[in-house]
Amino acid sequence: MVEQAPQTGSSRGRFITFEGGEGAGKSTQIKLLAERLAKAGQATVVTREPGGSPGAEIIRHLLLSGIGHLIGGSEAEALLFAAARDDHVRTLIEPALARGAWVLCDRFYDSTRVYQGKLGDVSPALLNALQDVTIGAMKPDLTVILDIPVEIGLKRAAVRRGAEAPDRFEGENADFHRKLRDAYRQIAAAEPERCVLIDAEGEPKLVADRIWLTVQDRMLGWPQAKPPGKPGAKGRGKTKSKAKARSA
Ligand SMILES: Nc1ncnc2c1ncn2[C@@H]1O[C@H](COP(=O)(O)OP(=O)(O)OP(=O)(O)O)[C@@H](O)[C@H]1O
Ligand SMILES: [Mg+2]
Repeated sequence: MVEQAPQTGSSRGRFITFEGGEGAGKSTQIKLLAERLAKAGQATVVTREPGGSPGAEIIRHLLLSGIGHLIGGSEAEALLFAAARDDHVRTLIEPALARGAWVLCDRFYDSTRVYQGKLGDVSPALLNALQDVTIGAMKPDLTVILDIPVEIGLKRAAVRRGAEAPDRFEGENADFHRKLRDAYRQIAAAEPERCVLIDAEGEPKLVADRIWLTVQDRMLGWPQAKPPGKPGAKGRGKTKSKAKARSA
């Protein structure tokens, strides 16, 4: 987690998630957006899933090592992802939003839907139950889905990895990654209010400009998020309930 700027207001912050296949540029673009938001005077928290909080980072380590295969397969893996998310939402995301920060999260529940649901064999019933427990009705205000041809994404991920072995997900075959891309595109098409599909080809700065246009259009016009000194906000304000069904 990286806090980019001091808090400037008392209203609830905004929650933006970044999704897309391996090497699409999520981590790169989150950093660039955080810098722009900080310049616009917004307190910004950068985090990631699985992980983001101390407890969830320990679970991340287990998940990326492929422990799901050892402890009972994809359902056990889904339970671990849910445990990590529960800790992350409760101890980091909700408190940051409550104090007015913008939270930028590298992967969130769409990754669960895609990897464990559409590409895995975890039932929608189990995924829905886990979602109820971990986040309830809370949703990202915006989900940026970075879309890139599979070969380019995998090449980028390989360059970044260098001599290290691919992790549990990077090691899947090209067909898996093609299905992954399709699944994300379907989510973007099904939920255009929440999601934006961004062409992630081109220089990082170019991709960052595309994202920034969307953020400005959809979010910086909101009264609470208005940059200082800019009158005439559009007033699209949506108040997200903090509804979080928990089992004690
Ligand atoms: N627009 C771009 N053009 C070329 N290279 C890029 C671009 N964006 C990111 N990269 C490089 O590609 C690699 C992967 O980028 P990044 O780590 O941001 O992707 P990611 O989506 O977070 O990947 P992962 O899913 O594996 O975490 C990095 O080495 C990064 O520097
Ligand atoms: Mg990354």
